[in-house]
Parts: sequence; C-alpha cells; structure tokens
Amino acid sequence: MRRTEPLRRLVRETRLEPGQMVLPVFVCPGEGVRRAIGSMPGVANLSVDEAVKEAETAAELGLGGLLLFGLPEAKDEVASGAWDANGIVQTALRALRGTAAARKLVLMADVCLCEYTSHGHCGVVEKRGEEFTVANDASVDLLARTAVSLAEAGADVVAPSDMMDGRVAAMRRALDAAKLVETPILSYAAKFASAFYGPFREAADSAPQFGDRRSYQMDGANTREAMREIALDLGEGADMILMKPGMPYLDVLREARERFEIPLGVYQVSGEYSMLQAAFERGWLEPERAMMESLIGLRRAGADFIVTYFAKDAARLL
Ligand code: PBG
Repeated sequence: MRRTEPLRRLVRETRLEPGQMVLPVFVCPGEGVRRAIGSMPGVANLSVDEAVKEAETAAELGLGGLLLFGLPEAKDEVASGAWDANGIVQTALRALRGTAAARKLVLMADVCLCEYTSHGHCGVVEKRGEEFTVANDASVDLLARTAVSLAEAGADVVAPSDMMDGRVAAMRRALDAAKLVETPILSYAAKFASAFYGPFREAADSAPQFGDRRSYQMDGANTREAMREIALDLGEGADMILMKPGMPYLDVLREARERFEIPLGVYQVSGEYSMLQAAFERGWLEPERAMMESLIGLRRAGADFIVTYFAKDAARLL
C-alpha cells in the first residue's frame, strides 16, 4: 500500500488544502514599504498598498484568508491606535474591502492591545505601589470597542488574542449593539504564555517593556484549564476557537478536537516558523518536507485550519 505515490495518496487519512491556511499580515504606515523581519525570513512589515498586493497573491494561491496585525504610528497607555476608526488595520481593511482578492479570502482581524500600548501589554496597566497589574475589565471595554471598529472597517471575522476574562461576551454584545450581528468571533481561547512568540514581538513591535504575560496567558502545563477556557468562550458566544502555539501543544489540540464540535483552528506561531527557517538556512532540515510535515501534524492532531507563516510556500507546493 506504500509502494507508489498514487497508492499512498489513495489511503491518505489527512489532507491539507490551501483553503485551510490563513496567512498573518503585519501592516505598517507608509507607502511601498516591505520591511523584512530579521528573525522571520520571508516575512515582512507591509504598508497598506503592499498588503493589498499580498492579498492578491494569497487569493491567487487559494489561501483561506489573512489575519491582520497592525504597527501603529504612535503608542499610548490606552492603545488608542487599536480602536481608532482610522487606525492602521482599519485603514488596511477599508483598502482591501473593495478588491476582487478580498472577496476570495476571509479577512480576519486580530484583536489585542499589545501592539498599541506604550508598555506592550495586552491590556490596560494599573500601578499598585511598586507592583503593576493588567486591569481585566477596563481592558475588556477597549477590546470590545476595537472589535466593533475593525468589523465596521470590513473585517469578516474578529479574533481576540488578549486572554482577558469575559472579552468574548463583551464583544458579542458590542457587535450586536452596532448591528454587526453577522460578524463571527474566532477566540484564541487556549493561548499559552510561550517563549515561541519571541520573533512575533519583533515583527509586531509588541514586547512588554516590563514584566511578562504570565498573569493573563495560560500556564503551559494545564490541559484541563485549557478545556475550561474553551467551554467558557463558547458559552460567551465564540463561533470558532484558535489554539496556540501548535507543535508544543498537539495533545491539547487533540483533546479540544475530541471534546468540542466547533470549527477549530491552530496557530503555528512565529517561533515554530523561525526555528524551522533557521534549520533550513543551515541545511540541517529539508525545507519542503519539514514544512509539510509540521503542517500535516497540526491537521492530524485535529485542526480544521492553520494560521501559518508558511501559508504561501505550502500552497505553492500543493
Ligand atoms: C497578540 C498576539 C501575539 C501573537 C498573536 N497575537 C503575541 C503575544 O501574545 O505575545 C503571537 C503570534 C506568533 O508568535 O506568531 N497578543
């Protein structure tokens, strides 16, 4: 049964299609800007006009969609750039919206404050003497505002990645109140505090200036808690769930697949991509085979779709 490729293809249990992959896009100010990200070969910060070209490429390759992140002109304590109607991602969405490419793609907007706060945390920071804490409820209000503003600008899906409690319910309420009843919420329900987000923080310029994210992102040792987070978000109205990171958490992904009858995505994060790229540069791994194996592993573990920086390369190969 393994003798020839047609035989192997006939009995293959798991498949990967371009439409199951979502490409992250980092939008920055300017025109004609394509600024390479040192720690992520092949990935760049793109100005709005370049992001439109990227969408055309993605559509030609048959990708499932784009996940948009923004690098604002300026940052402040309350992340004004995140919920500004003329924010960087809102501007990109408006530019994309009318295009033929956009009609073939799902335009997802990441909802988080970390790219927009001066301190780099995913919510509003409150000082308590020498200590600081990320204020959950104040952050949730701003996140809900951000989600509405992104949906109004043309996002097909909003994807909260901040990990505050109660944000999905608040977003659903705010979207409905703004008559955006058809905008689904893709919740990063089980997002672990991970060293594998390192290169992303260069790409999105969002490294926390003090402390770390362990007071709001999950402890990597906890599977049961991850299932509880998913159940809570579904109860609050999440339409789809995103698990993250991928490779170090395949068992958690499998567990979620078995427990929940919902569309389930996984994010193959920046560090997973960069470590493979580093090995490719040294000639230590075969690029095409290692890339495809890393992706099929995520599908086999139970992901319906994969957010991945390899989306274009993998689609070309397919
Ligand atoms: C925003 C966010 C992060 C990622 C996705 N959304 C960074 C973080 O939580 O530090 C990471 C994605 C990646 O590493 O590719 N909160």
